[in-house]
Amino acid sequence: MKTLIAYASRYGTSEKVAHLLIDRLPGDVHVQDVVEQAEVDWSTVDHVIVGSSIRMGKIQDEMTAWLHSNESELLKRPLGLYLCAGTPTAAERERELETAYREPLRAHAYFVEVVGNGYDFERMGFLDKAIVRMMAKQTVSSLNLDEAMLDELVESAQASLRTRSENP
Ligand SMILES: Cc1cc2nc3c(=O)[nH]c(=O)nc-3n(C[C@H](O)[C@H](O)[C@H](O)COP(=O)(O)O)c2cc1C
Repeated sequence: MKTLIAYASRYGTSEKVAHLLIDRLPGDVHVQDVVEQAEVDWSTVDHVIVGSSIRMGKIQDEMTAWLHSNESELLKRPLGLYLCAGTPTAAERERELETAYREPLRAHAYFVEVVGNGYDFERMGFLDKAIVRMMAKQTVSSLNLDEAMLDELVESAQASLRTRSENP
């Protein structure tokens, strides 16, 4: 069983989540930044988790392109979709998930949720720092992961893989 965790992360939160998941998933887990390396050898992948982050209402263009060109492969395998986002309200969270991941992927996935957010002021440029101060009222670096949501992602992945191995 090989899991691919494919992520795009501007300031490291989605990347941290990807690495946190490695030890919590069964089998061989490979983490890949699809902005740096888009190619995937799908013949070696049984299960996929995709993670992205929202900046100004959108995920990174490279991830949108990657999702588009790999959609048919994603739809053939158990799939988890997570998002890192500031997400002040439930309605906004819903809208961001819908914008990030197309309906066929969301309908197919065993998990589609926001798992938290992080702000790394060391890595942000002047403009992004100003946006975060204004929009999120954040002035120092922080990491706010939703542990309950991460537990749910891991449990849903395990349940989905169990079902698949019982009904190949
Ligand atoms: C410049 C900037 C703009 C952002 N815009 C949004 C936004 O429109 N909606 C939202 O929910 N979160 C927004 N966020 C919060 C990020 O999604 C959050 O910090 C996330 O954890 C970043 O993940 P990353 O470090 O993997 O890129 C923004 C963050 C920055 C720095």
